[in-house]
Amino acid sequence: TARKILLEFQEACDTPLSRLRQVVDAMAVEMHAGLVSEGGSKLKMLPTFVDRLPDGNEKGLYYAVDLGGTNFRVLRVQLGGLEGRVIKQEYEEVAIPPELMLGTSQELFDFIAAELVSFVAREGDDFRLHEGQSREIGFTFSFPVKQTAVNSGTLIHWTKGFKVNDAVGQDVVAALQRGIERRGHKMRIAALVNDTVGTLAGGRYWNNDVMIAVILGTGTNACYVERAENVSKFTGEIPESGQMVINMEWGNFWSSHLPRTFVDELLDNESLNPGEYGFEKMISGMYLGDCVRRVLVKMAQEAGIFGTNVPHKLLEAFSLRTPDMSKMHHDDSSDLKVVAEVLKRVYGIQNTTVGIRKIVVEVCDTLCQRGARLAAAGIVGILKKIGRDGSTANGSVRRNNMFEQGDMNGYHDELPVNYTSDGRTVVAMDGGLYEHYIEFRNYMQEAVVDLLGEGSKNVFIELSKDGSGIGAALLAASHAEHVPSTF
Ligand code: BG6
Ligand code: GLC
Repeated sequence: TARKILLEFQEACDTPLSRLRQVVDAMAVEMHAGLVSEGGSKLKMLPTFVDRLPDGNEKGLYYAVDLGGTNFRVLRVQLGGLEGRVIKQEYEEVAIPPELMLGTSQELFDFIAAELVSFVAREGDDFRLHEGQSREIGFTFSFPVKQTAVNSGTLIHWTKGFKVNDAVGQDVVAALQRGIERRGHKMRIAALVNDTVGTLAGGRYWNNDVMIAVILGTGTNACYVERAENVSKFTGEIPESGQMVINMEWGNFWSSHLPRTFVDELLDNESLNPGEYGFEKMISGMYLGDCVRRVLVKMAQEAGIFGTNVPHKLLEAFSLRTPDMSKMHHDDSSDLKVVAEVLKRVYGIQNTTVGIRKIVVEVCDTLCQRGARLAAAGIVGILKKIGRDGSTANGSVRRNNMFEQGDMNGYHDELPVNYTSDGRTVVAMDGGLYEHYIEFRNYMQEAVVDLLGEGSKNVFIELSKDGSGIGAALLAASHAEHVPSTF
């Protein structure tokens, strides 16, 4: 029966604290391995060449383009330095036409360039370049990039719904630059940043305790401030600040402790990137709804929950979107009207019993809870790696040597050099999943607290909405010529 399928599935998805702790430790171990050598871990741990974060002194007019979330965005911001901060900002967003996500590099970058150029042309008089400043752009590109400088890098591969094959291996800044030139314009792209890095920069601009940024949206990922000397695979010069922001690409994290089910296997096989980004496929907004759908398909086929015939549309991949999953999950009416409405609207399913609707809600709950708790374990893994999980009592610092210690207990790097204040650590969060899916957010926060115990007093998770666009502009500012800035 459907209930039996549900119970088995719940068991397979279970994430008790003991299992989450193993995920925490695996995350910290893989982070370490990924920093030591290229290919040392499924975690790419990409050096971003960002060794300074905005400090509030940035001045002038900057632009940002932001590709990789649900919407494509262009933005301009007038920065006034410490006194004025963000004096004025404007943005526009458009959905990327789906055919461009699977087309050619030139088509994609032409589209972005066209939007940017027309946005710049509509700049009002109240936006002003700083003396001697030329228009500079921060480019948020939310995919894995092998950076060669803060403003150049090649695309390693696509993730989420994109597959523009001829762009792989290309310098994406040069590609955008060419697009802009084809429109007869010239603009300098001062910074190329992942959305996590933009979010970190945007968060740090307002709050010095921000050390980690996490995106929970279409995809999921994290970045954090690492001691440059810990990045042993990095062959470049150690920056003066002694620090380097690392884009983890945690979506590709894998560990045998993750609760993998039949749903994950099917989804992976049919995805655009099979065998890759398994963590992302268990957690992020692009996939959660489809995980739910796959359980419902099994229940429809084996237990006939939607009648004798399986509704045709239910067999279509990605037909259940995460926002609809979230709606059903949050349905607090006694007869679960919203669930009935969604099933009818999306699949044409009529006349479900309240009992069946309850089961649907439980499937949503199971997958939401699993994703949220795994994301929490990821965050605590990073905190542990940088010695901010509260387990170094009295601020005592132990040198990282996990292999001698034989396990991850008490495994810490030295505290980051700018371990400033009273030990507060802020995690800047962004992404539609975290912002809109309240149950997800609650489950995640609860698990972070459970995992950290006492240590959770000093850890703050804060929504830094749309921080990544402005963060890219800020990084363009702090990496523009002539504008001094420090970490
Ligand atoms: C936005 C960033 O705020 O969050 C994007 O500017 C990022 O670059 C996005 O990808 C993630 O959100 P979503 O939910 O649209 O994928
Ligand atoms: C995917 C991308 C990553 C991005 C994340 C969140 O995992 O590979 O670069 O940060 O989605 O948008």
